[in-house]
Amino acid sequence: MIKCGTQRIETDRLVLRPFTVGDTQDMYRNWASDPEVTRFLTWPAHANCDVTRMVLSDWAARYADGGYFNWAIEWKENSSVIGSIAVVKLNEETEAADLGYCMSRAFWGRGVMPEALKAVIGYLFDNAGLNRIAACHDANNPKSGRVMEKAGMKLEGIWRQAGKNNLGICDEVWHSILKSEWKAL
Ligand SMILES: CC(C)(COP(=O)(O)OP(=O)(O)OC[C@H]1O[C@@H](n2cnc3c(N)ncnc32)[C@H](O)[C@@H]1OP(=O)(O)O)[C@@H](O)C(=O)NCCC(=O)NCCS
Repeated sequence: MIKCGTQRIETDRLVLRPFTVGDTQDMYRNWASDPEVTRFLTWPAHANCDVTRMVLSDWAARYADGGYFNWAIEWKENSSVIGSIAVVKLNEETEAADLGYCMSRAFWGRGVMPEALKAVIGYLFDNAGLNRIAACHDANNPKSGRVMEKAGMKLEGIWRQAGKNNLGICDEVWHSILKSEWKAL
């Protein structure tokens, strides 16, 4: 794989770019403080801005590592940061990555995350030289599965009671896409 890190990516409606500590207000207000957004996630909604600031300073320090991939999703129209999309697990041996994403409720249902996911998948295959990209969701959160399908990922199967999120232990539904499949799309 090529350790090209979190570079800027532009799509029709979005700019994907590294987070900075300056994104604290947007991240806290737009999604990190919202328990509806974090319902199926592994971290609790942030209690205040200080939590968000700490998270962002930790992330910002990690961008020096070219194997760290974590994008802020910026809405082009007004430059506000509305969500995140990141590699949550990287396996350099198998050239594989697992992705995770979340976004402000105000933007749900507009195809924004599929747009971001397609761009990140393309980047990780073309620039980082990966061969496999996967993601999973709680079986009770099927709309995340729709995002994966819309980005061209295929259903692999269900890992029964293999995950734990804010709702407790859950079945994980896995989707993936291989570089060869991406090239054929
Ligand atoms: C899951 C999530 C990323 C979806 O992103 P999105 O940009 O809204 O995705 P889409 O617009 O493609 O919609 C996906 C599905 O959500 C459903 N949906 C549509 N409008 C919706 C709305 N206003 N509110 C809730 N769900 C809606 C639909 O089933 C849609 O599928 P369809 O287009 O086939 O009808 C977003 O809801 C989110 O951030 N959720 C909280 C965090 C999370 O669950 N992350 C995933 C963890 S695995």
